[in-house]
Amino acid sequence: MHRVHWAFTALLGIGSFGFCYAGPIHAQCKVDWFFGIPCRVVYESLVSQIKKWTTSSCMAGGQRCLYKLQSASVHFITAKHTNPDKRHVEDINFRLVSYQFFASCHVTAMSISETWYAIKDHGTNYCNLYNLIEGSHLTQSRGYKEVTSEFLCTQRSTANCTVY
Ligand SMILES: *[C@@H]1O[C@H](CO)[C@@H](O)[C@H](O)[C@H]1NC(C)=O
Repeated sequence: MHRVHWAFTALLGIGSFGFCYAGPIHAQCKVDWFFGIPCRVVYESLVSQIKKWTTSSCMAGGQRCLYKLQSASVHFITAKHTNPDKRHVEDINFRLVSYQFFASCHVTAMSISETWYAIKDHGTNYCNLYNLIEGSHLTQSRGYKEVTSEFLCTQRSTANCTVY
């Protein structure tokens, strides 16, 4: 019992250490997504969704516009997203890694605000990434799973991706 308690305390210690020293200065978001479909399909869905949303008219609502593809290979996609208010730009990237003999795909996605003072982002960095996954219907794909947290994504819990 004693040992279990010690381990728990140690874990808490590491947790708060991480929180104090690794807290984001720029608003940012890191999400892991798992799909039971090949990375090539995930890649094609994401790239075509980014291209669909390059328009500056945000008619589809919220922030589903003003994306710009920077580079794309089946393992790594980079893009920029500008907020409709034109003042905030986020750098986003997706790293795709196959597993289960190419039947499944693990995607690590990052979004970081370019402006250092954008510390409160109303979940924009999360929505930036999530909207692409949702818009391309990858949320409905076989084996879909999301792993993230409030710590990894600024203001994720209060994010409303219809707006942001
Ligand atoms: C998100 O914002 C939209 C538009 O303002 C609103 O209709 C919707 O109820 C909001 N959703 C949540 C979960 O707050």
